[in-house]
Amino acid sequence: PVTAPLRISVIGTGYLGATHAICMSELGFDVVGVDVDPDKARRLSEGEVPFFEPGLEALLRKNLETGRLAFTTSFADAADADVHFLCVGTPQRPDSGAADMTYVDGAVEALLAAGPKAGSLLVGKSTVPAGTAVRLAGWLAREAPEVDLAWNPEFLREGFAVEDTLRPDRLVFGLPADDEWYGVADRTDLGVQTGRRERVEATLRAVYATALASGTPAVVADFATAELVKVAANAFLATKISFINAMSEVCEVAGADVKTLASALSYDTRIGGRFLGAGLGFGGGCLPKDIRAFQARAAEIGAGDALRFLDEVDTVNLRRRTRTVELAIHLLGGGAAGRRVAVLGAAFKPNSDDIRDSPALDVADTLRRSGARVTVYDPAAMVNAARKFPDLRYAAGVSEAVADADIVLHLTEWADFREIEPSLLTSLVRRPVIIDGRNTLDPQRWRDAGWIYHALGRPNV
Ligand code: UGA
Repeated sequence: PVTAPLRISVIGTGYLGATHAICMSELGFDVVGVDVDPDKARRLSEGEVPFFEPGLEALLRKNLETGRLAFTTSFADAADADVHFLCVGTPQRPDSGAADMTYVDGAVEALLAAGPKAGSLLVGKSTVPAGTAVRLAGWLAREAPEVDLAWNPEFLREGFAVEDTLRPDRLVFGLPADDEWYGVADRTDLGVQTGRRERVEATLRAVYATALASGTPAVVADFATAELVKVAANAFLATKISFINAMSEVCEVAGADVKTLASALSYDTRIGGRFLGAGLGFGGGCLPKDIRAFQARAAEIGAGDALRFLDEVDTVNLRRRTRTVELAIHLLGGGAAGRRVAVLGAAFKPNSDDIRDSPALDVADTLRRSGARVTVYDPAAMVNAARKFPDLRYAAGVSEAVADADIVLHLTEWADFREIEPSLLTSLVRRPVIIDGRNTLDPQRWRDAGWIYHALGRPNV
C-alpha cells in the first residue's frame, strides 16, 4: 500500500530520530539514519538501540536484516534520499533557557554541502522556536531552491515511542506558501511557485499513507502554526500536571485528598483524567526545557506576557521536589546528616532509562548534599544515573536498597514497585517509613504491614 520506492534519510538518530528511522523502514521505505556521533551510528548498525525503549530493538534488528535500513555518519549517503527528516536535538541553553539551534543549523548545513537532490523534501521534526521553519525556508530558497521544506512536529512519548510513531493520534503538516520566497528578495520576481504546497503535502501523505489509511487525522497548517502546535501541546500537558500539583499543595493544608479530588475531576469529560497524576512532578528531556524555550521565544517576539503563567507552572513543579526533600528531613527527625535514605526510582518516568531532569535523582542528590547516605535502585536507569551522579550509592535491587534505611522514598512509579510486598521489607529497614512521591502505592497495604506511609497531597493518617 505504501509507495515503497521513496528513499528516506533521518538526520539525527537520538531518541526521536532512531525511532523514526526504524519505524519508517518497518513501513517499507528505504531508510538511512545519519548521525555525527560514530558510536551511535555503529551501535544502531549492529542492532543495538542505545537507550531503553520497549519493542524498538526487535524492530531495529528485523529491519536491518531486510537491508532497507542503514546508519551512517556520512551525509553523502543521505544525498539521494527523496525525503530528509530533521530529528536533531534542541537542548536548553544554560544562559537563557532558549533552545540551542546549533545542531539544527549544523545538520542543514551538512545536508546542503552533501548536495540533496532536486525535488527532495526536508521535513523538520525537531522541537524548535516559532520562526525557525521560515528562517530555514529562506536558507533553502537562497542555497537550494529546488529543495522543499515542511514542518511536521513529533508527539511521541518515551516508553510508547514505537506505538506513537506507527499509530500517532494526529499528524501535523506545516506547509510552505506558494507565493512566498521567505525573505529572499532576489527571488520574489520569480513569482508564485505553482504547485509547491500541493507537492509537499502529497509527499507527506505518501510517507504517512499507512497511518492516514487507518484514520489518523492530518491537520494542515502554515509553518508557524505547525511549530507552535508542538510547544503548545507540551505547555498544556505541563500545565495540567502543575495544576493538579498546585491542588495537591492546597489539599495538604486543607486536609484533603488529591487522588480523590483528581478522580472526581476526571469524570468531567472536558477535563479528563490523564495527566492529572499528582506527585513529584514532571521531568525529562522535553516538558521542562520546552516550556522554558517557549517562554524565551515568546518574549523575543513580543508575546512574553501571554506565557508568564508558564513561569508559575515551572515553579509549582520544582516546589514539589523541595517539598519532598523537606518532608523526608522532617520524617527523619529534622536532619538528614548521617541518615540512610533509600530511593526507589531514578528514571524521569517508568519504562525509560532516561534521567534527563529526573525529579527522582534531583531529590536523591539534594538529600545526599544535606548529608544523608542515599542508596538508589531503578530497574533500567542505573547506568545512566551512576554516570551523572557518581556520589550516590546504587543497589542491585529493592531489598539491597532499603537495607537499614531510615526512610524509603518512592520517586518513579515503576510497576515493579507497585508489586512490592511491604511486609517483606519491614524487617530489612531500620525504620519502616515511606514517602510515596508518585501516589501509586496502596497506602492500606503499607500501613497494614506496619509502615508509616506518607504521600504528597493526601492526609497522612
Ligand atoms: C512528552 C509528551 O508527553 C510527548 O507528547 C512529547 O512528544 C514529548 O514530551 C516530547 O516533546 O518529545 P515524555 O517526555 O516522553 O513525553 O514524557 P511524559 O509521558 O509526557 O511525562 C513527562 C513527565 O510528566 C514525567 O516526568 C512524568 O512522570 C510526569 N507526569 C506525567 C506526571 O507527573 N503526572 C502525570 O499525570 C503525567
